[in-house]
Amino acid sequence: MKPIGTVITTEESPSTSEFSFVFDPNEKGVKKGQYVQTDSEQGTVFGYIAEIFRSNRYFERAESVAEYERVSAMSNNFPTSSWEYIIAQVKVLGVSKEKFFQRCSIPPVPGAKMFSADEQLLKHFLGLKDNGLLIGKIQHHSTEARLDLTRLVQKHLAILAMSGAGKSHLSTVLIEELLDRKREDGRIAVVVIDIHGEYMGFADGAYADRTKIINVGDRKRGFAYPMRKVIPEMIEEWMPMLSYAQKALLHNILTELHSEYKKNRKAYGFKDLMARIDEYQQENSKTDKNVKPALKRTLRELQRMRLLSENRENPRLLEDVKPGNLLVMDFSEVDSLRKKQVIVSMMARKLFNLRRKGRIPPFLLVVEEAHNFAREKAEENEAVSRSVIETIAREGRKFGAALCLITQRPVNLSTTALSQCNTHIILRVTNPNDLDHIQQSSEGIDARIAKSITSLRTGEGIIVGEATNAPIFVDVRNIRIRKKEKGRPLAELAAEFERMREKREEDAEAFL
Ligand SMILES: Nc1ncnc2c1ncn2[C@@H]1O[C@H](COP(=O)(O)OP(=O)(O)OP(=O)(O)O)[C@@H](O)[C@H]1O
Ligand SMILES: [Mg+2]
Repeated sequence: MKPIGTVITTEESPSTSEFSFVFDPNEKGVKKGQYVQTDSEQGTVFGYIAEIFRSNRYFERAESVAEYERVSAMSNNFPTSSWEYIIAQVKVLGVSKEKFFQRCSIPPVPGAKMFSADEQLLKHFLGLKDNGLLIGKIQHHSTEARLDLTRLVQKHLAILAMSGAGKSHLSTVLIEELLDRKREDGRIAVVVIDIHGEYMGFADGAYADRTKIINVGDRKRGFAYPMRKVIPEMIEEWMPMLSYAQKALLHNILTELHSEYKKNRKAYGFKDLMARIDEYQQENSKTDKNVKPALKRTLRELQRMRLLSENRENPRLLEDVKPGNLLVMDFSEVDSLRKKQVIVSMMARKLFNLRRKGRIPPFLLVVEEAHNFAREKAEENEAVSRSVIETIAREGRKFGAALCLITQRPVNLSTTALSQCNTHIILRVTNPNDLDHIQQSSEGIDARIAKSITSLRTGEGIIVGEATNAPIFVDVRNIRIRKKEKGRPLAELAAEFERMREKREEDAEAFL
């Protein structure tokens, strides 16, 4: 291996946490963010280049530079560029000795030669796996970023970035990797809460036979859940504003309807529930007369969502959640946030319960716009899905129920949920509030890394946390599916609008 520079002495280094090395300006193989190594008595010291400084003693003293420059440019008279040198500041990550990694306890020796990190060692050091999920390439190295499935997913994952930075692209990459896994490596099921119809591409091509897409808002083939499977606690969760008396009444009626169903197998729907409330004889005539109408008023909101049916059930989680398969819940045609929250809460709770009983395989639930489903500050009835997401975040790892929370507003995402996401993948973020929040909630993001988050380009990301032993900068790979999104480009919509209007005017003229 060819050395890239030499360790130097500065006022405070080399130390066990930081040191600098000087390198030739013509050396092209040294970049900020690159992993480097050098030998010491302890073993191979491993670190990354945190910053690069350029220096030239010729230009150190302002007054003489100004004086010379007045006469003629300094560089015309002196070989100034040959005095130029470049210093790289290295942050120490650890020391490797005979395949083990230790904390650095002896600083490297000034004068020691620096090398770019050995690829094998780098992989080992970062904790990458040959059969891991291929997210992309490690920046400045040819090493593939292959993350261990268990380490990445088991303790949940958050993808944090501003709008348009590539969150859905990255989660598409992740899903492709999960669907491509070999059976012997362990396959999990994937369920996506797709708010804007960004995962339609899975329905064509290589993954079509393993993908089911549900257009949630479709009247006939969209989401549906049979009334007879609804227990009172579910409605109480969706409608937290029910009073104690209303809950008691609802409880009685649902129990009654269900026990009748058990006897005669006659399915019942929302209408039956409402009718039964009207018919219900309250034994205690002193009970408030307002209970029935109040309960009905609240239930009518649920009825309008058209989620509960007599018989239809879609998705059927027991059949639709399979190892190596994908279930996409496409919410792009659902407008009401409350309705989305109710469905997400219903599905997440069901998934978690089925998984706890071992009736479905371990799964990853990908939630786009997670801040809308687990909001940090929310009114009671706006927080319907938060409690189940927080429950999975806290307890899911014991059962193989994993979350991937995606958000462009990390500040608004439940701190409980976010803090349980042990791996964070961060793409570009420029909003200072979000940046602060990310720095506080992501372990391993120091001020220097935080600074580089604002200048990430689309396709670049930083992985920190459980999935890796040290922060990694990655170039996210291309996706394999053909991208297909719901919704049409603005220009197309605009053109169509004008075409239609012209046509209407022509028609009107023709009529006159
Ligand atoms: N690694 C990448 N390589 C190539 N193109 C990418 C990459 N990441 C993202 N893009 C492109 O950048 C654009 C924005 O990406 P994407 O839709 O994933 O962003 P997003 O963060 O999900 O945005 P939104 O917040 O609007 O949902 C897309 O056109 C996508 O194809
Ligand atoms: Mg997106």
